[in-house]
Amino acid sequence: MTSVGIDAIEIWTGNLTLDLPGTFAPEKGEDPEKYTKGLGLHASSFPDTYEDIVTMAANASLRLMERKDLEPEDVGRIDVATESAFDNSKPVSTYVAGCLEEVYGSDFHHANKGERKFACIAGTQSLNDAYNWIASGRNRGRKALVIATDTALYARGDAGEATQGAGAVTMLVDEDPDLVEFSAEQGYGSADETDFLKPNQQFPSVDGKRSVQVYLARMREAMEDFEAAGGDTHPDNFAYIPFHTPFPGMVRKAAALGYRHALRGTDIESDLADEIGRQPRPEAFDDQEEYLEAIKEYTDALTETDHYRDWYARTVDPTLDVSREVGNWYTASVHLARASALRSALDAGTDLTGERLLVGSYGSGAQAEIHAETVQPGWRDEIHQLNVEEQLEERYDLSWDEYEQVHDAHNHDVDSDVESFTTPSGEFVFDGWGRMGERQYRYVE
Ligand code: CAA
Repeated sequence: MTSVGIDAIEIWTGNLTLDLPGTFAPEKGEDPEKYTKGLGLHASSFPDTYEDIVTMAANASLRLMERKDLEPEDVGRIDVATESAFDNSKPVSTYVAGCLEEVYGSDFHHANKGERKFACIAGTQSLNDAYNWIASGRNRGRKALVIATDTALYARGDAGEATQGAGAVTMLVDEDPDLVEFSAEQGYGSADETDFLKPNQQFPSVDGKRSVQVYLARMREAMEDFEAAGGDTHPDNFAYIPFHTPFPGMVRKAAALGYRHALRGTDIESDLADEIGRQPRPEAFDDQEEYLEAIKEYTDALTETDHYRDWYARTVDPTLDVSREVGNWYTASVHLARASALRSALDAGTDLTGERLLVGSYGSGAQAEIHAETVQPGWRDEIHQLNVEEQLEERYDLSWDEYEQVHDAHNHDVDSDVESFTTPSGEFVFDGWGRMGERQYRYVE
């Protein structure tokens, strides 16, 4: 069977940052530790006035194409996943292709372009589409650009305001990939839910507390489906487990649930039995509420054990390093988590070749997906090329007043003429509106 997966990855953060404990918390009259410890966030990335989902996507894609020495004719497919689209007809991928064509002087006229929507899981769905296109042999040797790009902005005063973020991840999907190979096994957990939605509006309507419960319920379902497909979920069999990361505190909950579910009936459950007992089984309870309470108590005790803490520190915590500094990138967030983990392994000098990742994606509305990936021999060279640290350090640190101006500048209902805070260099910028209301872009040397 053809080996298909991610050959290369590039990250582009918005050029501005907001310090959550230092700037946001005092304005909200809240304890900074609610952000650093509770949500697990230190900062959010924001787009400057000349940035949007197209510029960030095009910038990440240009970096990737240049370092992989690709020409437009090598690309047979460009899919953009986003939940921040500004047009109900013309897909963002056409804008991105237009930007890249300006630099290359040749075109993507034979590439199939599209836009995927299912909240934050659309990036993973686009990877899946690319996998199927290549595995079916319809790609004729060409590669797919899969781009996840979002400006995750909430209405001012919404509880989600603390979890905002902006950035793009471009992934090159190809045969015999250099970075990770996808497993054929997949599991889904999907249900009609009303937890987070944008019914023809820019900022989301969110039932925050419920969205957390829906994330967990769908993720558990996806695990069960993955296991039914023959997928392995033993927690010790994976080097890293990147999850969709709206904020690291959410991943803390998902990891505990997943670990408890996966250890049921394993040697780990037996080893821990003296310390915390065996996990409650539903058949031992007449009352569902009592069972749920007992399971919660067991899970809380489990997360306090050294065994769990070591596993979490090794397998999950490194996936959160970047997310802590940038907030939620919606469709891109699980792909940022994968890159963050691989970068951490590179820094630690770990040899990951042949090791496996278990990837848990989620989109509100709601659907979770789980698949496995195997790290390929070229992973070190690929991850070494990322310049995410430099990008994070170079961001302009917003004051509270400036944050308010930037939020207004990106609010479709506010007329704003605020100047940019940074000077673009070697990147695409938004350059005003065309005669049919289309957005226009240009490359700044
Ligand atoms: N020190 C330490 N911890 C503190 C603290 C302090 N001083 N103050 C509060 N905390 C903890 C709380 O105990 C809580 O942790 P637990 O959930 O583990 O108990 C955490 O900090 C957050 O505190 P609150 O629940 O009080 O925070 P909130 O009410 O302001 O809102 C939220 C939290 C509901 C997640 C909100 O940020 C939100 O609506 N976010 C947007 C929706 C979202 O991201 N949902 C996630 C699942 S949906 C999804 O994943 C899709 C997506 O990308 C949007």
